[in-house]
Amino acid sequence: MCGIVGAVAQRNVSPILLEGLKRLEYRGYDSAGLAVIDQAKSLQRIRVQGKVGALLKKHQATPLNGNTGIAHTRWATHGKPSTNNAHPHICRDDQVALVHNGIIENHEQLREQQGASGFKFNSETDTETVVNGIYVALQTNPDLLHATFATIKQLQGAYALGVINKSEPGRLIAAKNGSPLVIGVGIGEYFIASDVFALLPVTQQFIFLEEGDIADIRCTDLTIYNAELKIVERPLNVLELTPDVADKAGYKHHMLKEIFFQPNAIAELLENRISDGQVISSEFGHGADAIFAQVHSLKIVACGTSYHAGLIAAHWMEEIAQISCQIEIASEYRYRKSVVPDNTLFVSISQSGETADTLAALQQAKKSGFLSTLAICNVAESSLTRASDLVFLTHAGPEIGVASTKAFTTQLVALFLLVIAIGKHNGLSNKQENMFVKQLESLPARVNQLLLHKDDIETMAKEFADKHHALFLGRGSFLPVAMEGALKLKEISYIHAEAYAAGELKHGPLALIDDDMPVIAVAPNNNLLEKLKSNLQEVKARGGKLYLFADETSAVEPAEGVYVININVVCDFMAPILYTIPLQLLAYHVAVIKGADIDQPRNLAKSVTVE
Ligand code: G6P
Repeated sequence: MCGIVGAVAQRNVSPILLEGLKRLEYRGYDSAGLAVIDQAKSLQRIRVQGKVGALLKKHQATPLNGNTGIAHTRWATHGKPSTNNAHPHICRDDQVALVHNGIIENHEQLREQQGASGFKFNSETDTETVVNGIYVALQTNPDLLHATFATIKQLQGAYALGVINKSEPGRLIAAKNGSPLVIGVGIGEYFIASDVFALLPVTQQFIFLEEGDIADIRCTDLTIYNAELKIVERPLNVLELTPDVADKAGYKHHMLKEIFFQPNAIAELLENRISDGQVISSEFGHGADAIFAQVHSLKIVACGTSYHAGLIAAHWMEEIAQISCQIEIASEYRYRKSVVPDNTLFVSISQSGETADTLAALQQAKKSGFLSTLAICNVAESSLTRASDLVFLTHAGPEIGVASTKAFTTQLVALFLLVIAIGKHNGLSNKQENMFVKQLESLPARVNQLLLHKDDIETMAKEFADKHHALFLGRGSFLPVAMEGALKLKEISYIHAEAYAAGELKHGPLALIDDDMPVIAVAPNNNLLEKLKSNLQEVKARGGKLYLFADETSAVEPAEGVYVININVVCDFMAPILYTIPLQLLAYHVAVIKGADIDQPRNLAKSVTVE
């Protein structure tokens, strides 16, 4: 992953780069660095192990001043988090500085070649081989564009690069292949960044580079070349986004703010997507309804939390729309041969729209004979939305907390709309559609009700703080809810948590049950409740402690070793969305009690743009 930012201007670019890094921290935060060139042609760099905050402190003590610069926030792939491994990397003679997002797959081979010709390595990164390569190329042609072009020709893997050369102040070279990179267009200045959000304080005008593009950037001049070094035109996009989204609005953490924003996020998603009790199918893109009329089956592909949303949607799709629906993890799908039944719609789900595996899965799908491709995504100008035929935006607003919350619930609402839009062509009646739309419209108020349980859940969370493991149970469409609950807990509290289909308990996990293994179950009052209750008895009989979220009508009573929070959820098709909320709050409060870094948990990143 990693976030990169760069600038060429007629003013000191350090503050712009540092602000950009803060905004890119969701992409990684184990080390950070900044390099600038000033008019005296001196290249200066500062780097730190740790977060961007530490870099800001260092910069306050030793400010850098230059009109051309690059900066980086890292999520370690090759080489541990350390100052030496932090970017920008600088080559021999302090000639060239470079930031990189992605992975150079043939770095070992390049390292060997460069080592044999006398290069000493200062880091364990794959990136250092690129800056060395550029240095070598500059010896034959002292032009940064050509040196970068000659070097990237030798690279295998994915990269977004920003490169500066101390002999050429006022020039920045950017290259993109498989990792996101956007150019921001200012007045008499240009910027580059891993996403538009990083640059919103300085511009609203952007050019999205395409795969293989290399850009030659100076204050008043931008030339973009394609992979054959032919000049190409890329359109200018003017976005209407406000830069001010990163504040916590009085909440202690972004994650809590985002949990409490869910009623609004769902309401905003539904705005203009339903009318007179019906779903507006054209919201999925031009010609969507005609495509939906031909759909015989669906293939959903996603990663992480988005994958869990797909799992729930697959239940809905088969039960409500009666359309066969398969769901697969993107990193698995992309590397296997699969059969595509006729008239299958490919659906990718992604909060960021930049997840490398999901993007690769989409590329694979485009060659595989699907009827069409649809992206359910939260970021309008993302790689995924730009590469898909149909797009449905979840409009959840930027999600800052690494653990996904509002993005997940809005994905579920979007997927429910998709189920209706497709189901209409497969026997779903107007009456049913009206009923579902009513249920959807009731969601914001119902989520608000659930948020009132915050204090009870906080009390329950105290029971977990000293635990090392936890088991989550669910059945049917609530199994993915349990999976998401387990993922949330492990992501932010570092408690090992696993989710199981409750019926599978006796096939292994029951062996783990003792009074040190809390078992969390979601117990909606549905057709599987009695089955689930039997599974819970199996836990209780073995001394396990149960923590239940149940409907009042589920008649699950508290007892010794059984903690119940009645969440009063009418058990309709929306219930999986609702049962997610207390599990988010549980994970949040456990992590707060444990003193964990809620918004930036260790080792993780918000957007995973490497394999
Ligand atoms: C990372 C994030 C998760 C997210 C997953 C997929 O692991 O930390 O919150 O669910 O990537 O991301 P996407 O942007 O494709 O939904």
